[in-house]
Amino acid sequence: MAVIGTDLARAKALLEEGQLVAIPTETVYGLAANGFNAKAVASIFATKQRPAFDPLILHTNSLEKTAQFVSHIPNEVRQLAEQFWPGPLTILFKKQALVPDLVTSGLDTVAVRIPRHPLTLALLSSIDFPLAAPSANPFGYVSPTQPAHVETQLGKDIPYILDGGPCTVGVESTIISFENERPTVLRMGGLTLEALEAVLGTVSVNAHSSSSPAAPGMLKSHYAPRKSFVLIDDESAFVKPENDDFAVLAFDRMLEGVPGKQQFVLAPSGDVQQAATRLFGLMRELDDREDFSQIIAIKVPEEGIGRAVNDRLKRAAARA
Ligand code: TXA
Ligand code: MG
Repeated sequence: MAVIGTDLARAKALLEEGQLVAIPTETVYGLAANGFNAKAVASIFATKQRPAFDPLILHTNSLEKTAQFVSHIPNEVRQLAEQFWPGPLTILFKKQALVPDLVTSGLDTVAVRIPRHPLTLALLSSIDFPLAAPSANPFGYVSPTQPAHVETQLGKDIPYILDGGPCTVGVESTIISFENERPTVLRMGGLTLEALEAVLGTVSVNAHSSSSPAAPGMLKSHYAPRKSFVLIDDESAFVKPENDDFAVLAFDRMLEGVPGKQQFVLAPSGDVQQAATRLFGLMRELDDREDFSQIIAIKVPEEGIGRAVNDRLKRAAARA
């Protein structure tokens, strides 16, 4: 059993010893280790049962520290980072040799993020290495947005979970690359396309579903519950299944003709951010419920963070 608490000194000591600590961020909980220590990083992959071709994000608390392990920070990228860090944005840089190849799965780029959570920022400013941290869930499953989610699945394998409460953003960071000087979004996430485009102009989106290691981590089937999970475009596409043991995961209102106890509304407020914040918790809850064998989800509006919500719903529904 992991200890759950807010003891920063203990978290720091464990990380310095090369052990794993789950950390809160505004997006999802991360499974952290010393990102300069290849052995510690290897235990992240082992604990998550993550394939070695799927690279990790390095978390740090300043651009100065970032400059110590990336080869170059172009001006345009520095401006973007200054605007959105700390926050739900991950940026790819060319890496320096001191970043272990295991972190980047042998790629010459490294993903970096300054997360926006006071506890984790305090932890990061107390250590002199970045934290490699994927989401703290078994590979392919729904990401954790509360300490209890981490404890349930990984508690037996890690000593400590730093408790920062529930995650406010609720979906993972947006990942952007500047390869060939062109900004390209590789994963829709907590920072909206609208916010990025307000600063960068038109941004291309290349978050294609793929099961090819050439597009690491963008696997078609991901964030997937164990149960049958079906995604429909809108209410009009709903067809009542023969068996009654289904649950509906709807955006802002219930469907007519289905009992209320089978329906779960992501965002009673109609706000896509509320849908994002509640998404993974509700997916887990429905997956754990013994009275439902199937989840039928309805897409949310494709705007703002709703794009990231729909992306996760699509991947949950995909059976690779
Ligand atoms: O919000 C987040 O990003 C959370 C929190 C903990 O920071 N982290 C997270 O990590 O979602 P993870 O490992 O579950 O997803 C990171 C994604 C992976 O899909 C990986 O393929 C991609 O980042 N990635 C990492 N380094 C990359 C690189 N050099 N090139 C392309 N993709 C990369
Ligand atoms: Mg993940």
